[in-house]
Amino acid sequence: MCGIVGYIGPKDACPILLKGLHRLEYRGYDSAGVALINNNGSLSVYKSKGKVADLESHIAGKDISGTIGVAHTRWATHGEPNSQNAHPHYSQSRNLALIHNGIIENYKPLKQEMMNHGKVFKSETDTEVLIQFIEYIKELHGCNLFEAVQLALKNVVGAYAIVVIDKDNPNRLIAARKGSPLVIGVGNNEFYIGSDATPIIEYTNKVVYLGEEEIAEMNRQGDLTIVNLENVKQTPIVKTVEMNLSDIEKADFPHYMLKEIFEQPDALFNSMKGRLNIEQKDVLLSGIIDYKDEILKAERIIICACGTSWHAGLIGKYIIEELTRIPVEVEYSSEFRYRNPVVTDKDLVIAISQSGETADTLAAIQLAKDKGAFLYGICNVVGSSIPRATDTGSYLHIGPEIGVASTKAFTAQVTTLMLMALSIAKLRGTITKEYFEELVEELYAIPEKIKKTMELNEKISKYSKIFTYARNFIYLGRGYNYPIALEGALKLKEISYIHAEGYPSAEMKHGPIALIDEEMPVVVIAPAHSKYEKILSNVQEIKARKGKIISVITEGDTAIKELSDIYFEIPATMDCFTPLLTIVPLQLISYYIAIAKGRDVDQPRNLAKSVTVE
Ligand code: M6R
Repeated sequence: MCGIVGYIGPKDACPILLKGLHRLEYRGYDSAGVALINNNGSLSVYKSKGKVADLESHIAGKDISGTIGVAHTRWATHGEPNSQNAHPHYSQSRNLALIHNGIIENYKPLKQEMMNHGKVFKSETDTEVLIQFIEYIKELHGCNLFEAVQLALKNVVGAYAIVVIDKDNPNRLIAARKGSPLVIGVGNNEFYIGSDATPIIEYTNKVVYLGEEEIAEMNRQGDLTIVNLENVKQTPIVKTVEMNLSDIEKADFPHYMLKEIFEQPDALFNSMKGRLNIEQKDVLLSGIIDYKDEILKAERIIICACGTSWHAGLIGKYIIEELTRIPVEVEYSSEFRYRNPVVTDKDLVIAISQSGETADTLAAIQLAKDKGAFLYGICNVVGSSIPRATDTGSYLHIGPEIGVASTKAFTAQVTTLMLMALSIAKLRGTITKEYFEELVEELYAIPEKIKKTMELNEKISKYSKIFTYARNFIYLGRGYNYPIALEGALKLKEISYIHAEGYPSAEMKHGPIALIDEEMPVVVIAPAHSKYEKILSNVQEIKARKGKIISVITEGDTAIKELSDIYFEIPATMDCFTPLLTIVPLQLISYYIAIAKGRDVDQPRNLAKSVTVE
C-alpha cells in the first residue's frame, strides 16, 4: 500500500519521480505528492488529491528543478484522502520532508508530546507525527539527519518504509524500513528508491533490498551506508533483478487486467518450466526436494493467505488432501494470527501471497514459526518479505502482476499448489505411478487449453453488457469449483462494485435460494464431472424460480446448456484441473461488466495491490 519513489544523482529528479509514481500507482491512488530540493536550495512540496495525473497538472508551471527528491502515491489509513493528508509531509521548520508507507501505531502519544513541545500539525496523518518527531530529535540532540532518524525510529511502534530529505543537506537521502518493503536501485553515482523494483528497472537492474529495521544513507559520490537500529553496519548485498520493462507496460491492451488475463497460458507455462518434466513425466519442485525430510515429517498442512490467494489455497486443500492424504486447513491469515491457533513442529505452514508483503500473512507465518512449524512460501514478487521469512518455497515466475484484481497470479498459485501436491504424493507414495503420470500429462496440457478458453473473449465481451443492470450476482460451484465460485464473485465485486456472493451450489436451498427472482443472474460453474448431475438439479431449482442462468460448461454439454440463458464452453480436462479453465470466463465476465459500467478496472476504488497494513 502506498507507493514510494526517491532519487539522488546527476539527473533531473522530477521526471524520474513522476514516472516512478505512475509505475507504482497500483499500490494506492487516492492522492499523490512530490518533494524536491530545487536548484535554488529551497525545499518544495507539491501535493494533490486524486491520481498522479492530477499531481502533474498541479505542478505545471511550478519550480520542479532539482536532482534530489521523493514522491508518494497514497492509500489512506489515517485521515481522509485530500491534499493536506497526502505525502510528502514537511517538518515544522519546512527543512525536512518525508514519505511513508505503513502505520505508526503510537502516533497519538507522540503527537501529544510534539504538541506539548509547540509543534503544529497540518494533517491528520501518523506520517506528519513522524517527521515532526525526527526534527524534534535532531534539534534536541544537535545530531545529523541520519542519527535523528535512527534515534526516532527506536521510539516508534508500527510498520514503516520511509524516505527523508533535508534542505540543508541536498547531497544525501535517508531511507529506512520495518515491515514495509523498500528497494534501492544502484546506478552510477546515483540511487533510485522504490516500494518495489518497478520504478527502478528502466534505469538499473542492480538493487539492494533493505532489510528489517535497517537505515540507509545514499550520497552523490555513490556511497551507500546501511546500519541497523543498533548502529551496527550492514554490508549491502547487490542483487540483479530479472524484470523487463515490457513486463510492466500494458503493450496493446487497454488495461493491465486484460493483459494479465491473456498472459495466463504463458504465465502457467513459465511457472511449470523446469519443474514439470514432460519427457520423464515427472515433477521436480526444488522447494520440496531440498527439504524432503521436513516436508515428509508434516502430519498436517495449514495454508495461510488473504483474498484471492486464500481462494487458491482452498483449491490447494482439495488437491493436496486428495493426492497426499495429509489433512489441510485453510486459514484467513488475519484470523489465524489473532486466535492463538494450535500449531506444532509437526505442521507445514504454506503462506500464499502474490505480493509477498501482505501484513496479515507475514504475521501469521511469524506466529507459526514461533510455534515451531516448517514454513513454505508461494509468492510472486522476488525478494519480498514472505519468501525471506519462510524456510523454503516456490516463486510463481509469471512476471509482475499490476492490475489490482489478481488473475494470472491466482492461476499460477493454483498450478504451484498442484505441483506441490504431485511432488508430495510421489514422495509419500499415495498415488499410483499411472495416475501420477496421467496428472502430469494433463497439467502440462493446461496452458494450451487456457489459450483455447480465451477464444470466448468476444462472446463474453458481447453478452456481459446485458448484466450492467444487476445489483447482485450469485456464483455457484461444487468440489474443485466451489473456490472458483468465491473467486468469481470477488472478481466481480472488486472491479464492478456489484454485490456478488459465491456458494457451494448445494447450499442454495439452505437460504440463498430466497434471493432468486427474474432479476438475479446466477453464474453456475458446472464442468462435466462427478458432481455434474447434482449441479444440474441445482440449476433446475434456479430455473424454476426464473433466475437468469449463466453457465460455464464443458464442450459437448447438453443438459445445462439447454437450461442456460447464456453459456460458455471450456475444453474438457480432469476434475482437479478444471479451476484453471473455469476461472478464465469468470475473469473476463467481471472485466467486461466493469468496463460496461465505466469502472477503473486496474485501480478500483478503495483498493490497493499490496496490503501492507493489517
Ligand atoms: O499479495 P497477496 O496475494 O497476499 O494479496 C492478497 C489479497 O489482498 C489479494 O488477493 C486481493 O484479494 C486481490 N485484490 C484480489 O483480486
